[in-house]
Amino acid sequence: MEVVIVPDAAAGGELIAEAVAGLLRRKPDALLGVATGSTPLPVYQALAGLVRGGAVDASRARVCQLDEYVGLPAGHPESYRSVVLREVVEPLGLSPDAFLGPDGSAPDVLAACEAYDAALASAGGVDLQLLGIGTDGHIGFNEPCSSLASRTRIKTLTEQTRVDNARFFGGDISQVPHHVITQGIGTILEARHLVLLATGEGKAEAIAQTVEGPVAAVVPASALQLHPHATVVVDEAAASELKLAPYFRATFAAKPDWQGL
Ligand code: GLP
Repeated sequence: MEVVIVPDAAAGGELIAEAVAGLLRRKPDALLGVATGSTPLPVYQALAGLVRGGAVDASRARVCQLDEYVGLPAGHPESYRSVVLREVVEPLGLSPDAFLGPDGSAPDVLAACEAYDAALASAGGVDLQLLGIGTDGHIGFNEPCSSLASRTRIKTLTEQTRVDNARFFGGDISQVPHHVITQGIGTILEARHLVLLATGEGKAEAIAQTVEGPVAAVVPASALQLHPHATVVVDEAAASELKLAPYFRATFAAKPDWQGL
C-alpha cells in the first residue's frame, strides 16, 4: 500500500479531492464509495470547491454508502443516508437518483444486505472507495474480528464505537443504535481503488497496526494490505507511530506527478 503523510487534514482533503477529480475526468460516471464520520469532510469540501470552480464536472458521478445504522426512522438527520445526502450529494449537485445505499429501516434486514451487494455489482462495482478508520481499527462498521471475506451484513457495534459516535447524537450514547448494516471487508476489497484518510493522534495506533502490523481480523483495516491499489493518507499526528515514516515521506517526495494517487 502507499502511505502519504500530509501536514494536516485540509491538505489530505485536497489531495484526495484531486484524485477523485482525476477519476471523474477519466470516467465521468464513476461510482464513488463515500464514508461518513468527521474525517472525510475536508475531502467533500475540497471536491465541492473544485466542482464550483469548474475544475471538474461531477454531474454524472454516482455515489454509494459504506454503511448505515439499523432502526433509525427514515429521514433521521444522523442516518448515514441523510449525512451523505447533506455532505456529498447536495454540495456536489448530484441527483439523489445517482445514490445507492442499504436500507437500514427495511423490515427484512438480511434481504436488504443481500440486495445492497447485488446493487453494487449491477452498478458495475465501486471505482474509488473512501474510508475512515475507527479508533479500534474498524472500516465501515466492520468491528474487530470481522471476517476478512465478509459481505454486506448486519453487525453489532462495540461499546467503544458507540461512545465515539455519541457526539453525533447530542452526546447521548443511549441514542446510538446498537446495530448497523455495513459493506463487508470482502465487499470493500472489490472496489478498484481504496483511499483511507486518518487524522489526529487518536488514530495513530490504529494506523500503525493497519500499515505495519500483520493482516489480522482483529484490526479490520489491515485488510487493505491485501488490495493491489490501496492508499493511506495520514496527517502528522495520525502518522506519529509509523516506524517507516521517513521511507513513506521520501517515496512520496520522489513520486512523479503524472502517477497520481
Ligand atoms: C464510523 C463510520 C466509519 C468511520 C468512523 C470514524 O464508525 N462507520 O466509516 O470511519 O466512524 O469516524 P471519524 O472519522 O469521525 O473518526
